[in-house]
Amino acid sequence: MKVLMVCLGNICRSPLAHGILEHKIREKKLAWQVDSCGTGSWHAGERPDRRSVEIAQKNGIDITYQRARQIRSIDIDDFDLIFAMDIHNYEDILRYCNTDAERSKVKLILNEVYPNENRNVPDPYYGGANGFHDVFKMLEEACERIIERYAQSC
Ligand code: 4NP
Repeated sequence: MKVLMVCLGNICRSPLAHGILEHKIREKKLAWQVDSCGTGSWHAGERPDRRSVEIAQKNGIDITYQRARQIRSIDIDDFDLIFAMDIHNYEDILRYCNTDAERSKVKLILNEVYPNENRNVPDPYYGGANGFHDVFKMLEEACERIIERYAQSC
């Protein structure tokens, strides 16, 4: 299973989702691959935001090796599951899809926890450290559900 986590800048939310899922699949010895990217290109090549690095580190997860990149058309082919952090990311990713099969790979990540509610992972970029704590907790639960749901099918 190849899983792609997508947000806007690829420096706050999706690097956390990437790190958390990678950590869990390593613990569970699943042969999954995880990556993340942004719909925007402004932060390409940068490390994750310091506040994402800190909340991950507090939870025993290292994300410092990650570097931001922008989504590419080939990602839609390359990945089995593509998780958007919010509805804007979701709509932007759909622009890269050409078929229903491709579109069906794209999901809002919090629908794994709250089915059909279309909740967004709030962008913590302009907020304080609390925002990052809350985002971490949301993504931790979502990643747990993703493994429960998809581990059988691969
Ligand atoms: P992210 O947060 O999408 O969770 O990485 C953002 C980071 C940077 C910007 C927006 C969102 N920005 O506008 O620079």
